[in-house]
Amino acid sequence: MQRIYLDYNASTPVDPAVVAAMRPFLADHHGNPSSGHWAATAAKAALETARGQVAALLGCHDDEVVFTSGGSEANNLALKGAFFALRDRGDHIITTPIEHPAIIEPCRFLEGLGARVTYLPVDGTGRVNPDDVHKAITPRTVLVSIMHANNEVGTIQPIEDCARIAREHGHLFHTDAAQSIGKIATGVNELGIDLLSIAGHKVYAPKGVGALFVRRGVSIEPLIHGAGHESGRRAGTESALLAVALGKACELARDLSSMHRVCALRDRFWRGLQQQFGDGVVLNGHATHRLPNTLNVSFVGRIGAEILARVDGVAASTGSACHSGRIELSPVLQAMGIAPHVGMGAIRFSLGRATTGDEIDAALERLTDVLALAG
Ligand SMILES: Cc1ncc(COP(=O)(O)O)c(C=O)c1O
Repeated sequence: MQRIYLDYNASTPVDPAVVAAMRPFLADHHGNPSSGHWAATAAKAALETARGQVAALLGCHDDEVVFTSGGSEANNLALKGAFFALRDRGDHIITTPIEHPAIIEPCRFLEGLGARVTYLPVDGTGRVNPDDVHKAITPRTVLVSIMHANNEVGTIQPIEDCARIAREHGHLFHTDAAQSIGKIATGVNELGIDLLSIAGHKVYAPKGVGALFVRRGVSIEPLIHGAGHESGRRAGTESALLAVALGKACELARDLSSMHRVCALRDRFWRGLQQQFGDGVVLNGHATHRLPNTLNVSFVGRIGAEILARVDGVAASTGSACHSGRIELSPVLQAMGIAPHVGMGAIRFSLGRATTGDEIDAALERLTDVLALAG
């Protein structure tokens, strides 16, 4: 049975070119990048080259890139770091209910410390209305954080408009770009943002590395205090190995051309599903403002997790989670107002660079067989 991986939004395989770039840093270059002797030279140079590669993808200065352990840490550093740095100015954060837990949970934590958080509504496709950002701003606002693209349904937010409104009022704007990087353009100046998070394992680098873009002039309180690594913004000896991996992955991610092929495959999958299931299948997320690799569909009246469990060898994700024996709709689908009998049947298929037409056809065939058997 051919295994079919359609869960690239959960994690990507490490690109062979990334593996090759990492190898010398496992085998040979053990020096501490902060040391002043010969053993540090290669590690230090590689760290700074990698920073430049991340910066080139984001269109920012090298010194605006802070390496982290991943997307969650980058988000925590952005939210808590900005909140603590601006405590004298205010205590209000604006975000959305469809953010990844790596935003929602730091917000809850900060609420426990006295922050006030506004969760903006989203429409049925998962999009925020920029006017709502405007309405939510108060004199106590310090930060607006809205994800670039949603991990479950792929909906892309009108970040440029939201960021412009926040910055016109003098507030910082953060975006979680863990899912958009390498799939759509993520230039920080085009987006007009102050802080942006990325995660290595969503972009063909390994798990355990990510980065936060911090615009020059924006000061954040570090989460980890210690020696002055990362210009005092994140203490801890830097891993040249992981930085090199992220740098190489970002270099590869600058070429978005493979996304045309991926998008065509995704649309072929969707057409196939519509042909097979007609009104029994609906699209979740925005029809056009959506990541080119993401297809979240609901099999109406069914349970997505049950379908997936029966479709042999196909790795994908569901839009519902089992909590103490009860299946619950994901907060993202809930916030989009998706009816439970539709949302429970949600499955997210996310394609990647290695996805083939044969895999898409085989996945479609297996799904059709399982649903035909189920009646
Ligand atoms: C949108 C989004 N933000 C943040 C994260 C967390 O990234 P990491 O797993 O690197 O901590 C993820 C991972 O699923 C994500 O999809």
